[in-house]
Amino acid sequence: MRKRKIKKMGKNGPDRLISVGLIVAVIGLTIILSAPDANAQDREPGPNPDNNTCFMCHHNPNLTTTLPSGEVINQGVDEDAFNAGVHGEAGLSCRECHSNITGYPHPEIDFESHRTYTIARNTTCIECHSEVTAELSGNVHEIALAEGDLEAAVCTDCHGSHDTISLRHERSIISHTCQGCHSQIFNLYRNSVHGSALLGEGNPDVPGCVDCHGAHTIKGPSNGQFHLFSPEICARCHTDPELMDPYGINTNVMDTWVRDFHGTTVVLFQEVAPDQQTDKAVCVDCHGVHDILPPDDPNSHVLKENLLETCRKCHPNASVNFPDAWMSHYDASLDSAPIVFWVTWFYRLRIPAVIGGMLVFVVSDFIRQRIDIRKEKNNG
Ligand code: HEC
Ligand code: HEC
Ligand code: HEC
Ligand code: HEC
Ligand code: HEC
Ligand code: HEC
Ligand code: HEC
Ligand code: HEC
Ligand code: HEC
Repeated sequence: MRKRKIKKMGKNGPDRLISVGLIVAVIGLTIILSAPDANAQDREPGPNPDNNTCFMCHHNPNLTTTLPSGEVINQGVDEDAFNAGVHGEAGLSCRECHSNITGYPHPEIDFESHRTYTIARNTTCIECHSEVTAELSGNVHEIALAEGDLEAAVCTDCHGSHDTISLRHERSIISHTCQGCHSQIFNLYRNSVHGSALLGEGNPDVPGCVDCHGAHTIKGPSNGQFHLFSPEICARCHTDPELMDPYGINTNVMDTWVRDFHGTTVVLFQEVAPDQQTDKAVCVDCHGVHDILPPDDPNSHVLKENLLETCRKCHPNASVNFPDAWMSHYDASLDSAPIVFWVTWFYRLRIPAVIGGMLVFVVSDFIRQRIDIRKEKNNG
């Protein structure tokens, strides 16, 4: 009954709303004041009837407020979306988050801008979700916010305020939430080998934004260790034969990089000076960060034709055949690098031969001496 009345109100627009609103406000106030406060733990699941009073006015999509900044905030709340969200399903009442609202008229909204309003209202989330506080502390957005960057992400930017969904395992939805503020990076990512597989094909094997950066623990290059340890991110998948075999992608890319001059030095840095920056090439210096492509793609930074340009970022004087003098991800083999292959085998055989020969010499010399001493004793 009440629901239908609300729908009709919506069609009549904001003008009629005020007068009808005032009538229901009286009824509403009575219900509001007598409504019990549900507890987060032992609640009855399902939409909370307590909220009907609020929806009487707030289901109206035309209900708006104008802030001193001139910004207009839409005060409508989509009832179906709210009830289908995690909080509606859990039976939360509006007032559990909006504890400042005890009836109508509401307390005055005293915020400079929509953004400061949003940030202020977000403090409510942590009252029930204290478990995420530790994860969030020190993440890039919290730091940016503390430094006065109001555009840094708060809970509702990623989760929504009323249509809250669980983002667990929803990697393509998550990437779109990041898109709202990081659109340039998103556009690069969308066309990359990873992004096109996730967003285009729904492929679960490839990384979305939070697989590389973390979800609540989000880190980026402003964290001193992120760049230095970034090869570990790639290695998580690119050394896993079960994941890579179906794509025919080599899993020796980490091992060969570690054996390479760049990798050997970076790994040394990781162990002895993890807070230092390195200028040696990590994976993303050659492959790109958000625009990684298969090596045979015309736009790949590691395509043979583009490789010299990639090396020259750090080796500005590199000659045309500079990349050829480097092993890439290849283990030396008869096909890829016959000279390196034979030299490697030459030393593999020669070194044991030299050391073995020396050992034989030392041991036989020692035995010879013992025999001589014994002979001398016997003679003398
Ligand atoms: C009689 C109509 C009416 C009822 C009933 C009503 N509201 Fe409102 N509400 C408004 C109007 C109009 C505004 C716009 C700002 C203002 O005028 O105060 C508003 C603004 C709000 C805001 C935004 C401002 C703020 O303080 O954050 C919230 C949140 C809110 N209402 C929550 C509720 C909740 C929760 C209930 C139910 C317990 C409720 N309202 C019941 C009409 C109503
Ligand atoms: C889980 C906590 C939570 C619940 C439950 C909740 N709200 Fe909100 N609400 C928020 C937050 C946070 C904001 C500020 C979000 C923003 O500005 O993006 C907000 C903002 C609002 C606003 C201002 C307009 C806007 O969207 O910014 C209104 C009106 C409002 N809520 C009404 C309600 C009503 C009515 C209910 C119950 C049906 C309700 N809220 C339930 C957290 C909640
Ligand atoms: C009054 C307590 C309360 C407040 C305040 C609250 N929540 Fe919740 N939240 C719950 C309950 C209860 C659930 C459902 C049970 C669960 O999954 O923990 C839930 C579930 C969630 C989930 C899904 C969790 C999952 O397991 O995937 C997210 C995400 C979430 N809330 C975000 C928020 C955000 C963002 C805010 C602030 C706008 C907020 N919550 C405010 C009580 C609350
Ligand atoms: C930058 C985006 C972002 C922000 C900001 C953010 N979250 Fe999340 N949150 C996520 C993602 C992504 C997941 C899913 C994590 C996963 O799949 O492991 C998540 C998961 C959750 C969960 C489910 C339980 C869990 O730990 O996995 C809860 C509850 C939650 N967030 C609450 C919050 C609250 C409360 C805030 C604000 C204090 C917040 N989140 C801020 C992106 C965000
Ligand atoms: C395959 C792993 C990976 C994926 C997927 C990824 N990133 Fe990154 N991202 C990185 C690495 C590594 C860096 C640091 C690059 C460096 O150290 O030079 C970075 C840097 C950043 C930066 C800061 C530097 C800048 O360019 O402004 C932002 C912001 C960022 N990523 C956001 C995103 C977003 C948003 C997505 C999803 C659309 C995403 N990332 C997907 C690995 C990834
Ligand atoms: C509401 C806007 C907003 C949303 C949504 C958002 N971010 Fe950000 N993000 C920012 C702002 C602002 C900064 C700080 C300025 C900067 O470095 O660009 C930032 C910084 C970063 C950085 C840091 C870079 C560094 O220099 O260390 C990374 C990484 C990042 N965001 C990743 C993400 C990911 C992943 C998501 C989605 C899960 C996301 N962001 C969602 C606004 C947002
Ligand atoms: C979550 C797992 C995962 C992570 C993390 C990851 N990748 Fe990938 N990557 C894949 C999968 C799966 C493919 C194959 C996708 C396809 O072909 O559709 C792929 C493809 C590639 C390709 C193209 C290979 C080819 O021959 O087509 C390159 C290059 C690449 N990744 C480099 C990187 C780098 C560099 C990093 C770290 C910054 C990284 N990847 C992180 C899973 C991952
Ligand atoms: C100095 C530049 C450089 C660095 C550093 C580098 N790569 Fe590569 N990578 C290349 C080149 C060049 C190719 C193309 C080899 C070819 O196809 O001949 C390649 C190919 C690949 C491929 C495709 C292999 C296949 O079988 O299709 C993957 C995956 C890859 N690299 C991942 C990584 C990872 C992970 C790291 C860091 C641990 C890394 N790369 C570091 C230059 C580099
Ligand atoms: C992110 C920067 C960076 C990129 C990109 C890079 N290198 Fe290097 N590389 C270095 C640094 C720094 C050294 C240390 C020696 C130096 O200062 O010249 C080095 C050393 C080397 C060495 C050891 C011999 C020497 O010159 O001292 C070889 C070989 C080499 N790089 C090959 C390559 C090739 C081939 C590419 C392109 C596929 C490449 N590098 C791309 C930073 C880079």
